[in-house]
Amino acid sequence: MPANQPDDRVRVRDAFGIDSDLVVPAFSEPDEHVPEVDEDHRFDPDVTLALLAGFTRNRRVLVQGLHGTGKSTHVEQVAARLNWPCVRVNLDADISRLDLVGRDAIVLRDGRQVTEFQEGIVPWAVQRPVALVFDEYDAGRPDVMFVLQRLLERDGKLTLLDQNRVLRPHPCFRLFATANTVGLGNLNGLYHGVQRLNHAQLDRWDVVASLDYLPPDVEIAIVRARVPELADSRELVASMVALADLTRKGFQAGDLSTLMSPRTVIAWAENTEIFGDAAAAFRLSFANKCDEAERPVVAEYFQRCFGRELADVSPLAAAS
Ligand SMILES: Nc1ncnc2c1ncn2[C@@H]1O[C@H](COP(=O)(O)OP(=O)(O)O)[C@@H](O)[C@H]1O
Ligand SMILES: [Mg+2]
Repeated sequence: MPANQPDDRVRVRDAFGIDSDLVVPAFSEPDEHVPEVDEDHRFDPDVTLALLAGFTRNRRVLVQGLHGTGKSTHVEQVAARLNWPCVRVNLDADISRLDLVGRDAIVLRDGRQVTEFQEGIVPWAVQRPVALVFDEYDAGRPDVMFVLQRLLERDGKLTLLDQNRVLRPHPCFRLFATANTVGLGNLNGLYHGVQRLNHAQLDRWDVVASLDYLPPDVEIAIVRARVPELADSRELVASMVALADLTRKGFQAGDLSTLMSPRTVIAWAENTEIFGDAAAAFRLSFANKCDEAERPVVAEYFQRCFGRELADVSPLAAAS
């Protein structure tokens, strides 16, 4: 039976590798909802301190940043170090109000069909020491945002209208969100399907932290740690990260509609090991995901970072 409240303490300097003397409450034992620790995760100091304020002082923290900057993994990895159960809900998926709060469902009871209310993820989480993360918060449908409004109030009780019940949150219930924009909507056309967060919504977050891409040397270190076969190929990995950076700048400038996240760089590095050629692996890991019209831009980035053409080497030829 996991503890109902933090029964341990963690030194921030040791657990997160950031320059701080803080000691924060934590759980001594993980339960099934605690994310797995990723030893290679690198914590951004500002965002980590913001998230720790969320856990320790019950602040509602919204993390914003471009795709692949590590927003979701930051929340999860902080939770992992604190053994704090953490559940992610992606509002990007076609989530409705009933998915969140619950709905009537038909169940069998003593051989008879009866209609019973089945709790959704929000009432489930609210009553537990759980960090609930709304991922892609700016993609939430209006009916969903309406449900979240009440929850975001300081002592936010959750009213289940259909149930005539008011839920008081567990003292260790926590609420986080990640978003690609800070409520400005699809201002520059980069994020399709994001809604404008209204001011009342945005106002309810106590802390808004902003995450940028990792500095190149940190990203290089992460890729080399994840793909040990390339640990000795620092220059190759540096070129890969430089190319990824060009795609991010190109994305921001509107030249590309896709960008390379750190996840894509890692996949590219793994594929390079498998196919034996960075260009072949690049086409398979990224270039083929790009719109036909954008391929020349991508090929030029490759040329700039690798000093050779993104020639049409077939992956099989490269591997042999
Ligand atoms: N600080 C970091 N340390 C280690 N890996 C990271 C870090 N940030 C991002 N990554 C890598 O990038 C991937 C994408 O991160 P993710 O959290 O999904 O981004 P976002 O939620 O911002 O779109 C992760 O799976 C992880 O492999
Ligand atoms: Mg995410």
